[in-house]
Amino acid sequence: LHVTWDAVTAEKGGYEHFMLKEIHEQPKAIRDTLAGRIKEGLIDLTQDLSFTEADLKKFDRVHFIACGTAYHAGLIGKSVIERLVRIPVEVDVASEYRYRDPIITPSTLVVVVSQSGETADTLAALRAAKKAGAKTLGITNVVGSSVSREADEVLMTWAGPEIAVASTKAYTSQLVAIYLLGLYMARILGTRTEEVLKKSTEALIQLSEQVEGQLIEAKTDAIQSLAKEIAKHEDLFFIGRGLDYAVVMEGSLKLKEISYIHSEAYAAGELKHGTLALIEEGIPVIALATQHAVIEKTISNIIEVKARGAHVLGFGLEGDRELKKSVDRVITIPDTLPLFTPILSVIPLQLLAYYTSVARGINVDKPRNLAKSVTVE
Ligand code: G6P
Repeated sequence: LHVTWDAVTAEKGGYEHFMLKEIHEQPKAIRDTLAGRIKEGLIDLTQDLSFTEADLKKFDRVHFIACGTAYHAGLIGKSVIERLVRIPVEVDVASEYRYRDPIITPSTLVVVVSQSGETADTLAALRAAKKAGAKTLGITNVVGSSVSREADEVLMTWAGPEIAVASTKAYTSQLVAIYLLGLYMARILGTRTEEVLKKSTEALIQLSEQVEGQLIEAKTDAIQSLAKEIAKHEDLFFIGRGLDYAVVMEGSLKLKEISYIHSEAYAAGELKHGTLALIEEGIPVIALATQHAVIEKTISNIIEVKARGAHVLGFGLEGDRELKKSVDRVITIPDTLPLFTPILSVIPLQLLAYYTSVARGINVDKPRNLAKSVTVE
């Protein structure tokens, strides 16, 4: 008898890398993060948060603070809170926050997002916010972590341990936590009708199945073949508008971290103010266009880069006809409420980074120079 596996192989549960396993664990992570927080079709966080209606009414601004992938979740948080609750939101990378003398008052809600709950920059920012008198809320994946102990309020994500340096299931779980927070605040503050809140909750419940549908072999094979093309390049661009812009920032980070390909995420409408100069024959441009309100504008930006020779890979919603016409290849994403598309649109971008890394023969789970948890400032 010859045993060809070891403990680490066994932990990967049949997947070649932790990252791929964690990508596939997302439907469960989403379900687990929602579990017990929906009652009678509405979001109920009374078991998690001790905020009263009076507490919530007091907040006149919200700050999201985080690093890396968690910062990108914070960018989505800005749209979620501003749209659902109409309170102004600022988002900062933790290492900048403390040193820019931000305006923090007792009516500021500071939301700190950290998978590990131990990132030094994030912790320092949390402590500074507390000291300045803000109310702090931690969104973290690790029970007993510093963030979970030090923040006034804690909203756990239930993604389970994340081993790969490049974060995947922690990000989608952070988005779920942010949606829960936004919908709960909207419910208590009455900024959304019960009907809208119920419809949103239903859409939220469907997400895990929709992610599952994106992880079937036929879908992942299509991304894998795209990755083989991408792997030959040294530079590429990601473009999008609104929430799509925030998601392509995450897609670009993922690709940089594990494939070592240089990429830039750009707000599609901003290209013409400089970056268009870098578009040359054959350069790949990944365009994410899921936001109905700005799709036409994004398409006109796609036409601009195509006219300069870019090879455009479009990521758009199933059933979309317009995007298809203007790109070289298209990958489809299931439809949901516009606010929730980031959970679905990030999946193919995670897979693209993963398969590109594999095609380039890179150590996917442990890319050079990076650490899972950065506990120095
Ligand atoms: C490191 C990791 C990133 C992560 C960031 C923030 O840089 O490599 O993947 O997004 O830290 O980590 P946190 O645990 O605070 O979410």
